[in-house]
Amino acid sequence: MSSRVPAANMAMAALLRLSSRGTCSSSMFSSLGPLGGSSSVSSVSSSVSFFSPRFLSSSASCLGVAWSETGGAKASGEVAKLTMPSGDSVDIPILVPTYGSDKFLDVKGLKKATGCFTYDPGLMETATCQSGITFLDGDNGVCCYRGYPVDQLAQHSDFVTTAYLLLHGDLPTPEQDIAWRRELQKYMVVNTRLVEFYRSFPDGAHPMAQMNSVVGAMSAFFPVSLDPNDKEQHITAATRLIAKMNMIAALIYRTDKNKSVIYPRQDLTYAENFMYMTFGDCTLPPGVVNHDMETFKLVAKAIDAFLILHADHEQNASTSTVRIAGSSQANPYACVAAGVASLWGPAHGGANEAVIQMLEKIGRPENVPQFVQDVKNKKDGVRLMGFGHRVYKNFDPRAKYFGELVIDVLDKLGVEDPHLDVARALQEAALNDPYFVERKLYPNVDFWTGIMLRGIGIPTNMFTVMFALARTVGWISQWKEMVEQPGLKITRPRQIYIGQPIRSM
Ligand SMILES: CC(C)(COP(=O)(O)OP(=O)(O)OC[C@H]1O[C@@H](n2cnc3c(N)ncnc32)[C@H](O)[C@@H]1OP(=O)(O)O)[C@@H](O)C(=O)NCCC(=O)NCCS
Repeated sequence: MSSRVPAANMAMAALLRLSSRGTCSSSMFSSLGPLGGSSSVSSVSSSVSFFSPRFLSSSASCLGVAWSETGGAKASGEVAKLTMPSGDSVDIPILVPTYGSDKFLDVKGLKKATGCFTYDPGLMETATCQSGITFLDGDNGVCCYRGYPVDQLAQHSDFVTTAYLLLHGDLPTPEQDIAWRRELQKYMVVNTRLVEFYRSFPDGAHPMAQMNSVVGAMSAFFPVSLDPNDKEQHITAATRLIAKMNMIAALIYRTDKNKSVIYPRQDLTYAENFMYMTFGDCTLPPGVVNHDMETFKLVAKAIDAFLILHADHEQNASTSTVRIAGSSQANPYACVAAGVASLWGPAHGGANEAVIQMLEKIGRPENVPQFVQDVKNKKDGVRLMGFGHRVYKNFDPRAKYFGELVIDVLDKLGVEDPHLDVARALQEAALNDPYFVERKLYPNVDFWTGIMLRGIGIPTNMFTVMFALARTVGWISQWKEMVEQPGLKITRPRQIYIGQPIRSM
């Protein structure tokens, strides 16, 4: 197969060596592994910089346009040396972020300098943008929006203020906060004809199918021409999306249950309105024992925390999808619909549902040891759902905060969920078991959110809709950041062709 791929063969023998001050190792470039053996890697030693001046100068000019609200990524002063099979080599500048310890090889211009592309399936080793929105430090379990730790925001802020922060970059002044809430109120009702749209779905249509269609249809209802240079229009689209998504999500539940439409109230918060528009007159879901205002507020507060903790998470699959769609200058409603589609996949937004299924299967706390043993034995590929994370190799800070909140809220609500005890026993067992400890597998946010959502009456098939409701803020903030950065380029990755050579009919 690889014989048909000359570019891959060229990359086979490429060696990346860092300058003496570099801290990365060649193992970082494992994506080259399948393309070349270690012998070719170790055999190359020349460090003549045949393309260096051009490559470095093109990279330097790229650095010049690097942008973020905090000033853009910086050159670290270090370079990596890429030695080609011919023995010639290229210096690759290393970029560093404005905060954090990650390092990035700046490979812009690499093809021109070496004739080679890079190969990185899943973009696991690749930064595709510069962003000043969310900071993650997976090793230390840190997640911040615009510099503020998410658990602090969940504790001291609310979803609407957090949305302002993500969208605009700073917390609002009291005046800005009031104006922002007024703007959201202005847009929160969904157009009657859009409401009718829901009636055309067949019975039992998946909630995410409905959300995907309705958000996509917003382009038809609000066909404003979006001038990429008109920041006012970006804000209007963002405000409209964030405001309407609440009713769009609630309407999915109402339609599914054949219930009448409930319109939002101006005196309720965003999360309270979600509760009100979803569950209606009784204002609280079945299963909650105390139907009083205090309990209603408590449930709304829990939903608010859920929304804050899911509002953004850096360049995950759905956010990257939104960015890729937006890179062609597609309108923001279409881009967010693309994000909804990506989130729908079980490998992304569906994990909390999988946790519930797992807890149901385990059934009782006394079955936990056997289940943990099955996971460790990799019996039928069974995994401990809600544990482990691609980025977090420590506690997911969202899980830490939300886990405590779930137990507290469900206690106060008087919801007796046998799965809560199973979840506690599972967490306890896994955190004390060398299998999980050695692999740095900790509970992620999905471990707890399903239990909470189910406890407050959200049907399982609506879990991902709740996630999308929250993530809309991150999607549109990331879209806005991207279209407002100078030098927007359409995202156009390459491939390694593995098909037939040219042949005649
Ligand atoms: C999220 C996830 C895909 C990240 O995976 P990853 O970082 O690529 O880790 P890997 O799949 O390479 O796994 C590394 C090792 O840990 C094990 N592992 C990872 N997650 C595990 C889990 N949830 N349960 C049991 N073992 C797990 C793997 O089997 C592997 O073990 P090995 O070295 O003996 O082969 C993975 O942890 C997972 O499947 N978690 C459960 C699903 C989930 O909760 N998803 C939501 C994420 S927000």
